[in-house]
Amino acid sequence: MDKVTVSVPGKLMLLGEHAVVYNHPCLVTAVNQRMRVTVDILDSQEFQFEAPDVKVVGYKKALSELGKGDIPKGAQFVEIAVKNITEKHQLKSGLRITTSSEFSSEFGFGSSSASTVCVVKALSELLDLKLNSKEIFDISYKTVLDIQGKGSGFDVAAAVFGGTLYFITGGKVIEPLKISSLPLIVGYSGIKADTVTLINNVKDRFANDSDRLQEIYSQIEAIVEKAKSFVIAGDWGHVGSLMNENQKLLKELGVSIDKLDNMISGAIEAGAYGAKLSGAGGGDCMVALSPEDKIQSVERAIAKAGGQVLSVKTNAEGVRVE
Ligand code: PMV
Repeated sequence: MDKVTVSVPGKLMLLGEHAVVYNHPCLVTAVNQRMRVTVDILDSQEFQFEAPDVKVVGYKKALSELGKGDIPKGAQFVEIAVKNITEKHQLKSGLRITTSSEFSSEFGFGSSSASTVCVVKALSELLDLKLNSKEIFDISYKTVLDIQGKGSGFDVAAAVFGGTLYFITGGKVIEPLKISSLPLIVGYSGIKADTVTLINNVKDRFANDSDRLQEIYSQIEAIVEKAKSFVIAGDWGHVGSLMNENQKLLKELGVSIDKLDNMISGAIEAGAYGAKLSGAGGGDCMVALSPEDKIQSVERAIAKAGGQVLSVKTNAEGVRVE
């Protein structure tokens, strides 16, 4: 084999963000907009990378230089993933890696983790490493931590396993929930958020009140535990109320913004069971659960508050060779 294409789904956090960084559970669903990566074997001993979606074009270096020197932001995850694999499994030839995505890297659908998982899976195929899903998760999560220093790995798990997952920090538990889909409406705020900055903001805000912070995280954990059974049962009314409770706690953490608040309250006034921000906060997306007959009015309310409604299906398939 001298060429392989792999794809993974994007993700949306349903409940439990921020707490999941600190050994608490979350619920995440994979979405049907996908990231694709093609890896070609080259004759030269070069690493070549093309990611036009994130404006990386014509990037190349010697294989021996992987991970060294200035790496453009858009190339970091892919290059370090290749480096982490080739440290254990020697590459006999160069590689050209090309990524393309059905979703914008601005949405917060987890494009960095998605491209990492794609590359790890693609190299597993090309080098016949026969890595199983947990091994792909572990190498990809290590790569994310090498670059970001922080993060629970929930986005990596969504890319690898797909579906809708109950997940605990670092992959201590990765439990697929047996459901077919969620009636989820997604609104993009138009604002790009930086996950690590938001994690640090929460830490600073509660620097003198770590008791309250721990209490909030425990309350979020209780919400996730209750919601898990309601999601499995398809009891969206109860899941919606728990989303509203989770949003109150996220506001107390200081990670919501007016734009998201307006989209969320608009959705609830228009008849949604519940709504909250999804991910780190500070921008990116909000999600709402809605009864069938209220979907259009909820979507209109989100648009009226300045949000862009994104058409996505949940519970999408995990990593696959195309
Ligand atoms: O904004 P995102 O998709 O990177 O999600 C962040 C969710 C956090 O819990 C804040 C971080 C994490 O890695 O779990």
